[in-house]
Order: sequence, then structure tokens, then C-alpha cells
Amino acid sequence: MNKRLFVAIDPPPEIREQLTTICCGLPDARWVPPEQLHLTLCFIGEVSGAAFLDVKEALAEIKTAPFALRLQGVGFFPPRGQPRVVWAGIATSEPLAILQRKITTRLFALGLEPENRKFSPHLTLARLNQTPPSKVGRYLEEHGLFATAEFVVDRFLLYSSVLGRKGASHTVEQWYGLAGAGGRQGALSEG
Ligand code: 2AM
Repeated sequence: MNKRLFVAIDPPPEIREQLTTICCGLPDARWVPPEQLHLTLCFIGEVSGAAFLDVKEALAEIKTAPFALRLQGVGFFPPRGQPRVVWAGIATSEPLAILQRKITTRLFALGLEPENRKFSPHLTLARLNQTPPSKVGRYLEEHGLFATAEFVVDRFLLYSSVLGRKGASHTVEQWYGLAGAGGRQGALSEG
């Protein structure tokens, strides 16, 4: 059966909680549910059952030490025209960029064609439907100083996504511990 896949980092619970404090205050916004907030490393798209197994194996071969990350600032996409997405930014991180590159390179080596736009690390907070730009501007002003403490990234996750009428629902297919965390991997039911 085909699966629609992406690879992401999950923020720890305390960061998720902090994010929920800024997930409000915009009209005509569909806020991402707190449990679904994530930092996409690579959007793979729809793959066959066989390719899914290849992806799971290929991601297990990625070796990177755990690293620290910090969320900083808020912004919107696209940079010009009607804002469609409001996001929380990520303080510049070379280890994050390296991990993202390793993942994308592995997936290309499998013959897949993952999303290959310039990596703009962010956590999507809301998708907008004709929210007046002036309101978005006010929101950005209000939360411009948003920042979290550093947290350690010690795993990344392979998610599948099913699109529904009320938005997407995400399932963890596999998680991958970074090397310093023993390089373990597992399905969610295994912890
Ligand atoms: P986002 O991180 O900006 O929300 C699952 O759909 C995840 O993959 C989302 O987090 C989404 O973006 C990201 N993504 C990246 N490129 C995508 C694309 N072309 N289509 C759908 N989702 C994409």
C-alpha cells in the first residue's frame, strides 16, 4: 500500500507547551494541533510499499551525533503576497543543516525525488485562509521576540501522513536515535 511520507524532528513536550502559547490570536487561521507540531527535515511524498521499506532501511544508516537546537522568532510564507503559513523559526544550526542534507542525499540515492527546495527550517504553527496581512503583521510584532531554551535533538522520525477533510493526520512509522544516543531505532510502540 502506498504511503505519504516525511521525515521530521519533534520538539520535546516543554517546547510544544511553549509553542501553544503563541498558537492563537489570528483570524481565519487553522492552528496545528499541539501534538502535531514538528520540524520537517524532508518531505518525501507518496511511495509504494517496497520503497517504504527501502526508506526505513536507508534512514537507519544515517549517523549524526545529537545536537542542541533553539526556536527563535516567528515569520510567514510566502515572503510576498497573501500570507498562507505562520511559523516559528529555528536559530541557525549547522548540525541541523548537515542532518537534513544527509537524509535528502540518502533518499535521492534510493532513486526517490524528495522535496528539494532550499531548506528553510521552521515549525508550521498555522495555515491561513485570507487572514488580513495587517493582522499577520500585528501577530509578528507581538511575538517577534519568541524564543525557547536550547533542547537536545537525539532522534528524528519517519512519519506517514493521511490527508483528510479536517487536515492531515500523522503517524510515526519509525524513529531513529542519533549516534550518541546509541543509534537505536524503533517503532513508537517499542518506546
Ligand atoms: P510544513 O513543515 O511547512 O508544514 C507533512 O506534510 C509535512 O511536510 C508538513 O510539515 C509540510 O510542510 C512538509 N512539506 C514540505 N513540502 C511539502 C509538500 N510539497 N507537500 C506537502 N507537505 C510538504
